[in-house]
Amino acid sequence: MTSYHLRGASPAKTRADAVVVGAWKDPKGGVTLAAGAEDVGTAFGRSLRPLLSTLGFTGKTGEVTRVPTGGKLSSPLLVLVGLGEKPADRATELLAVRRAAGVAARSTANAASVALALPADDAGLIRNVLEGYLLGGYAFSRYQSKDPDKRAGTVTVLSPAARRGEAGTTFEEAQVVAAAVQGVRDWVNTPAGDLTPPAFAEEISRATKGTKVTATVLDEATLTELGCGGLLGVGGGSSAPPRLVELRYSPAEPFAHLALVGKGITFDSGGLSIKTAKGMETMKCDMAGAATVTQATLAIARLGLPLRVTAYACLAENMVSGSSMRPGDVISIYGGKTVEVLNTDAEGRLVMADGLQRAVEEQPDTIIDVATLTGHMMQALGNRVGAAFGSDEVVAPLVESGRESGEKLWRMPIPQDVVDRVRGSKIADLAQHDWNRWGGGLFAAAFLREFTDGRPWAHLDIAGPAFNTAGAAGHLTPGGTGFALTTLVDYARTLTGQA
Ligand code: BES
Ligand code: MN
Ligand code: ZN
Repeated sequence: MTSYHLRGASPAKTRADAVVVGAWKDPKGGVTLAAGAEDVGTAFGRSLRPLLSTLGFTGKTGEVTRVPTGGKLSSPLLVLVGLGEKPADRATELLAVRRAAGVAARSTANAASVALALPADDAGLIRNVLEGYLLGGYAFSRYQSKDPDKRAGTVTVLSPAARRGEAGTTFEEAQVVAAAVQGVRDWVNTPAGDLTPPAFAEEISRATKGTKVTATVLDEATLTELGCGGLLGVGGGSSAPPRLVELRYSPAEPFAHLALVGKGITFDSGGLSIKTAKGMETMKCDMAGAATVTQATLAIARLGLPLRVTAYACLAENMVSGSSMRPGDVISIYGGKTVEVLNTDAEGRLVMADGLQRAVEEQPDTIIDVATLTGHMMQALGNRVGAAFGSDEVVAPLVESGRESGEKLWRMPIPQDVVDRVRGSKIADLAQHDWNRWGGGLFAAAFLREFTDGRPWAHLDIAGPAFNTAGAAGHLTPGGTGFALTTLVDYARTLTGQA
């Protein structure tokens, strides 16, 4: 077990196996030690600059160098982490710190004790240092027979703001949030063969034990009674039946009622509109939205936020068999709207429609849905930025929460011509898909909005940032990233009036 501490001490006088400081890359060459490293700079004096130059350390993002301190500091080893060029805006600075802390975690894996002296002048920076460290050090070793990498036993974050009350609270909360992100990563990384809808529903129920969150699992018989044709249609081709898991956290005197809906396709083969082999490679990640809303609800409950939360994890496996849904089929969503299915690979919006309609029934103040919905949004925004659609009053503060959380969200429109196309089916109430290949993420968002009954709503398409197909980088590790969780919890906090 690792213990985490927040201290106001000087990094030069802190005794640990390794002390980590940050360095900015100067635009004209050379490096500048970042805030937090002042005493280290003084202790090394003029010898540091030529030393770093000899080591070839430039301060660029992700770069690390290790310097034995030879008694200049109380700790035997100084680890310098590059922060990149110093940005002018706060959001980019927070992200740089978050990334550097992640690099620090992997660079000090063999140290029994680590002191982090990265920029940590206020609560927001402290949060990003600790979350970045915890997330960068994440490893998924469940399926490996070799021993998992060691982690430091004692981690101390050094901050001039350590003694301020809010800093201590933030420090504790960051551990709760990081654990929730790790929970998302664990679920996303679990092979789809081991995380079928029934198995995932079980896992979710188990995760709520001992918390103030209750879970109700609706099985295929109940879904049939209720008329959840989206989940049943998409899940019909799999030998593992669909599930809808409803989570409820209901504290006394809540500030508001937030509904969260998550896409939980445990594997997306595309169904009869089958994907290519390449297109299927990462499709165990297609339940990231459900994992995120579940873990966000658990985190909000653990933090004891005075906010009522109802979450819907829409779980189905999109497979190919004699009982698969066909292109051309018409299905009926919970509540009765009919949908003409034209591409079985656009399955996410169908299961989400059931979830959204279940959500609106409880008349929440705000609905947020999270889904790895379209490759189109990945084309548009790449794999580090999420797309945000929906009502101004929800999207604007969500994007702002993303800025505080090292997660970039980019606002996307729902144009009227796209709405008209969604409503343009010749045989059903709505078209699930049409011939127009452009802006498919917008079509999907317009489709989802049809099921929100005009309530304040935001839709996050995280198809790109939910999964990292490359190696570890900053706070990201290979596989599931847990993207959007930190933002959701931060947003929930703003709803309770605590920034
Ligand atoms: N799960 C995919 C979207 C996706 C793609 C997520 C890549 C993560 C990485 C989704 O169900 C899908 O297949 N979408 C189709 C929609 C199309 C048929 C309108 C797509 O993106 O091609
Ligand atoms: Mn699909
Ligand atoms: Zn999908």
